[in-house]
Amino acid sequence: MQMQVFIEPKRRIGRRDTKIYGHFLEHFHRQIYGGVFDPNSILANGMGFRKDVIQALKEIKTPIIRWPGGCFVSSYHWKDGIGKSRTAVFDKSWRVEEPNSFGTDEFIDFCRETGAEPYICTNAGTGSPEDMSDWVEYCNLKSEGKWAKARIENGHEEPHGVKYWSIGNENYGQWEIGAKSADEWGRFVLESAKMMKRVDPSIELLAASITDIEWNLKLLKEAGQFLDWISIHGYWDKIWFTNKLSDYESCMAYTTEIEEPILKAESILGALGYSGKIRIAFDEWNLRGWYHPHVHQFENVPAEVCAKARDDNDFNASYTMADAVFNACFLNQCLKHCKTVGMANFAPAVNTRGAIYTFENGIVKRPTYYVFELYTKYMGDEVVDVWMPDNEYFEVSCEGKAVRVPSLDIVATVSGNGSQLRIAIVNRHPDKTISVKIDSGSYREFTTAILYGISGDSKNAYNDVHHPDRVCTTAEPVKVEVDKDINVEIKPHSVNILVMT
Ligand code: AHR
Repeated sequence: MQMQVFIEPKRRIGRRDTKIYGHFLEHFHRQIYGGVFDPNSILANGMGFRKDVIQALKEIKTPIIRWPGGCFVSSYHWKDGIGKSRTAVFDKSWRVEEPNSFGTDEFIDFCRETGAEPYICTNAGTGSPEDMSDWVEYCNLKSEGKWAKARIENGHEEPHGVKYWSIGNENYGQWEIGAKSADEWGRFVLESAKMMKRVDPSIELLAASITDIEWNLKLLKEAGQFLDWISIHGYWDKIWFTNKLSDYESCMAYTTEIEEPILKAESILGALGYSGKIRIAFDEWNLRGWYHPHVHQFENVPAEVCAKARDDNDFNASYTMADAVFNACFLNQCLKHCKTVGMANFAPAVNTRGAIYTFENGIVKRPTYYVFELYTKYMGDEVVDVWMPDNEYFEVSCEGKAVRVPSLDIVATVSGNGSQLRIAIVNRHPDKTISVKIDSGSYREFTTAILYGISGDSKNAYNDVHHPDRVCTTAEPVKVEVDKDINVEIKPHSVNILVMT
């Protein structure tokens, strides 16, 4: 059976913001220490950053990195992490010692090395509005006041110019240190935003949000005038406390749930009159929740047992084509909703459930890494209209429910001047190749087409230290005839981008 796809490049949906290809780094397990920052590593540069990690992040054109948390930030005092002598503290979020040797200046330096915009998430748990605005002073004022002078004293003469700032992480959750009610949250964000904007009115402000009417009603009523974004998070395979990873088929069911939080956030912003004024930042997302048992359940377990359990996030076999296909479906939703979703941050970039795994002598690019490589390298910047009269479906069981999953997920874009059509074609099916026939509408001038893609040799394929390239990008020329439809065969469990020039 052949699936028919219709594209009309002249019908523009909108321009995607490259920040949807963003990343997140938290002071959790080996993301910072032993991840991006490893001064004793033979692979570290003079600032202690892993050169291979920097190179890998540059290759996927990482546009923005959110830091330092995540739950960690809700009891993090940024002033402990600056200056010549650093004070080690006990991190109450993750019950480990935080050495504070990687702080604001190191984060900014790391972003400069990778070419990514820094995005700082502030402590709305134990922190105050003044702590937040002092942080903006430290980063963005030229030399006025004690904090800008401290930055200069610490060796950074010029302001860091941090544009993106979030007030809080998930302060709506009982697991978060300094959790707040909807009433408390609206007022707190208002007071924090006022002070931060008075230091630097040019910053863009985000605030921790969820797709809940009451929470957002109070947040936006109190502080909407100061906000440029609302921040939402998503983890679908909820294995924080069990690490029992869902199988490929269940993960495909999860891909059908990605759009719902976006639609809800859009409706809330619309209902409250903020469409076009406030955008959505999906600034923590991953198919799989991170594994960190005992802490959020407030169990009486020694801190070192809690920390040790997190090593189980490091198994590369956990991250397969299921993760890659999910990531592509997530990015497709961001492209489809490019008018409202302007930022997304994969959680995290390095180690834990991230796209890059570090070990003593190198890195492993997990399948999710190649999804970012495909999309940042080959997808266009204008999303255009695409529709399918029908789709293939397969049924799976997920969380005890039967779920009907469409095999194909497709988004079409054109590059800058509209001269090239770039089509993301994802085949969720676990074992079926699907023949696709593409009618490219008014765009008929193409003479060549190449299908870039990843599929692995099985739905459970993964990369690891001994098999770093079992999943990697292939490029296959596709036979095309001017003014004719294009026929392509799309492999099962695969992520593809068809580039037509
Ligand atoms: O599991 C990691 C946590 O997920 C992050 O620290 C937090 O922001 C989210 O709940």
